[in-house]
Amino acid sequence: MRTFKTIIAAEVSSLLNEVSVEELLALIEYPSNKEQGDLSLPCFKLSRQLRKAPQAIAEDLKNRLQLEGVERIEASAGYLNFYLNKAHVAESVVAGILQQGELYGAQNIGSGKTVVIDYSSPNIAKPFHIAHLRSTVIGNALYRIHDFLGYACVGINHLGDWGTQFGKLIVAYRMWGDEAAIEEDGIDELLRLYVKFHDEADKDAGLNDEARAWFAKMEQGDAEALSLWQWFVDISLIAFNRIYELLGITFDTYTGESFYNDKTAPVVEELKAKGLLEEDSGAWLVRLDGFGMSPALILKQDGSSLYHTRDIAAAMYRKTTYDFDKAIYVTDYAQNLHFQQWFKVVELMGHEWAGDLVHVAFGRVSLDGMSLSTRKGNVVKLDEVLKQSIAKTKAIMEQRHQGMEHLDETARQVGVGAVIFHDLSTNRIKDIAFSWDEMLNFEGETGPYVQYAHARASSILAKAGAAASMTNEQAQQRAALLIDEASNPLLQELSLFGERVELAMHKLEPSIVTRYLIDVAQAFNRFYHECPILLDHVPAPLREARLALVRCVQTVLRNGLRLIGLEAPEQI
Ligand code: ARG
Repeated sequence: MRTFKTIIAAEVSSLLNEVSVEELLALIEYPSNKEQGDLSLPCFKLSRQLRKAPQAIAEDLKNRLQLEGVERIEASAGYLNFYLNKAHVAESVVAGILQQGELYGAQNIGSGKTVVIDYSSPNIAKPFHIAHLRSTVIGNALYRIHDFLGYACVGINHLGDWGTQFGKLIVAYRMWGDEAAIEEDGIDELLRLYVKFHDEADKDAGLNDEARAWFAKMEQGDAEALSLWQWFVDISLIAFNRIYELLGITFDTYTGESFYNDKTAPVVEELKAKGLLEEDSGAWLVRLDGFGMSPALILKQDGSSLYHTRDIAAAMYRKTTYDFDKAIYVTDYAQNLHFQQWFKVVELMGHEWAGDLVHVAFGRVSLDGMSLSTRKGNVVKLDEVLKQSIAKTKAIMEQRHQGMEHLDETARQVGVGAVIFHDLSTNRIKDIAFSWDEMLNFEGETGPYVQYAHARASSILAKAGAAASMTNEQAQQRAALLIDEASNPLLQELSLFGERVELAMHKLEPSIVTRYLIDVAQAFNRFYHECPILLDHVPAPLREARLALVRCVQTVLRNGLRLIGLEAPEQI
């Protein structure tokens, strides 16, 4: 659907040959004070380019522009303000949403392009950390947003399934492990062994050498080492899949670090051939002093590979396999340096696609000030957090109304949704504090609040029954009645969906979608309180117009919730 912004930008650009539609799209604003127009073009920002005074540009455009649906245009203080015709807004927004339904807001700007998204990526034999949860939900939202905009997406769970920690675990298992306990307690028992290893290694440094030796054996393909490793992987995946199932998230591939074992040697060769590799007391590295960074370690003294090495090999593999236009990595900002380092190495290797590698960093999550370190063993269990959220939601819903149908299923959708939404509701780079009260507040800026607005829209439509069923043409005609002070802002908000999704994609920022959903839900609640729908005194045409608007709200909330990985139950 063409938005008012794109229509204005196209018309203005056709009058000003020197200014492109893209430039205008970036300039046009939505003034928060509607007295300054529904949309506004700051002409002073064009003054230099056009070598003309701002007010003169505005006056000239005002005289020459002819725009359907625009009631009046004013040139004021260097701005050109557009006042839309409210009935026209209503008709075009309602028609657009109802015609496009599930696809309202979608675009094909990504068609023919591929985006590879590396997210979640927990470490085997360690618990699923709260940062992995954030990576999972941000990555999943970015996946869905790109998909909605026409990109082909590949979601990769780059499991941390290789590295010295497996050497430690093998040593610990051989010294103190118990097969039955691991089968029984899974990842918890593996974690206990891991923690015990660190405690003992503090007293006996020789244990670290043994661990390194076992990891080297894994790299050399030793059968005993590999079969233990495979067992640890399987045990861990059982626990991770429980979490993914609760979240309703799947991946296209689970190719973890181990997948690249046979792909690191060519990387080392290439680095050598290109003169980038330097020896440093038996280890091999790429110096990055010239770029203000510490060196990227490529091979250890014993010849084993490192995190960097495997990331470079993985990127090369992904480029050959998927020929991506963009490769996204979602991790917390503690890994900023790691990504800067190896992105630079790929650039130094002369691969022009180094510029398509993007690190999407996010802030830390603190939980009641609790330390989340794995080494100490006091970690928060994520499936417990999700289950607790579901239980708390269920209790709240039981209080709100008794005898609800599908209570358990709805509590799952809302309880899990609350956690996801909370993780996505601030700029990703900000640190966030995990708070039950904030997350589960049905009146706050939360997932339950948005899901509840959607359920309210659904229940109005269900109650209206036959009155709500009309053809799109009828709905569009009726919509001309939606010109009051509660309906118009809601319609204008609904018209922005596509633009916001696109912005979220460009900025790789799902919080733009969560913010938008809150704005729609708030505008809808205001409309709901000010505009009666099903009361007897409401004339039939107006009732139908309002029902059409409710249907639009339902569609936009549902589409938006789906983009960030939330379900949209009909009843809460
Ligand atoms: N497994 C890593 C961790 O838990 C995250 C991996 C991120 N992806 C990557 N390609 N390095 O810290």
